[in-house]
Amino acid sequence: MSVGYIELNRFVREKLPEKRYNHSLGVVEMSIHLASLFRLSVTDAACIAIFHDAYRYDCDEGTAELCRKSGIEVFPEEEKEPMLLHGALAALHFDEVAGPVPSKWKIAVRHHTLGHKDMGKYGAVVYIADYAEKGRKHLDDEERGRIISLPTLEAMVMHIMDMQRSYFKEKGMKEAEVSVELYEFLKEGGCFA
Ligand SMILES: [Fe+2]
Ligand SMILES: [Fe+2]
Repeated sequence: MSVGYIELNRFVREKLPEKRYNHSLGVVEMSIHLASLFRLSVTDAACIAIFHDAYRYDCDEGTAELCRKSGIEVFPEEEKEPMLLHGALAALHFDEVAGPVPSKWKIAVRHHTLGHKDMGKYGAVVYIADYAEKGRKHLDDEERGRIISLPTLEAMVMHIMDMQRSYFKEKGMKEAEVSVELYEFLKEGGCFA
C-alpha cells in the first residue's frame, strides 16, 4: 500500500462536508473497537472506515454503468437509487487513492450500504459501525451498548437487520434482495469469512 490512514483521513476530510466527515470518524472509532474485540487488524478496519463514505456525494445516473463496466455487479435497488452505489464507487477508487489496497478493503466498502453475505469480517465491522457509531441519533446509548455487547459480528449484524426490518415494515419500504439473502444466510448460521 502506498498511503496509510493519515493520508486517507486527509483525503476524506477535504472531500466530505463536515457532518459526513464527523460521521466517518465515528465509524473509525467504532470499527477500531470492534476490530480489537474480534482480533482483527485495527489498521485495516480504520482505513476501511475512514474511506467508506468518501464518494457519498459523487453518484449520478452514470454511476451504475460505470460500475458495470468496471466489473462490479449492480443490484436492482442501486439501479433505481444511484446514491446507494457510493460504496461501490469508493471501492472503484480505492486503489487509485491509496493503492493497491487489499481486496477485503474494497469488498467491505462496496457492501457497507445494503450488506452482503460475502462482505467478510471487515465488511461486517464497517456495516455495524456505520449503523451504530456514537453520532447516530436513531439509536440511544443503551441500544448501542446492546449491539456491541453481542458475542459475534454475525449476531450484531442480525440484530441491526432486525431493527431495520421493523423500521422498513413500519414505513412500508421493501428490503433489497441482497439484504434479504444476507439475513437468511445469518439465520441459517452462516459466518463471515
Ligand atoms: Fe455509506
Ligand atoms: Fe456511513
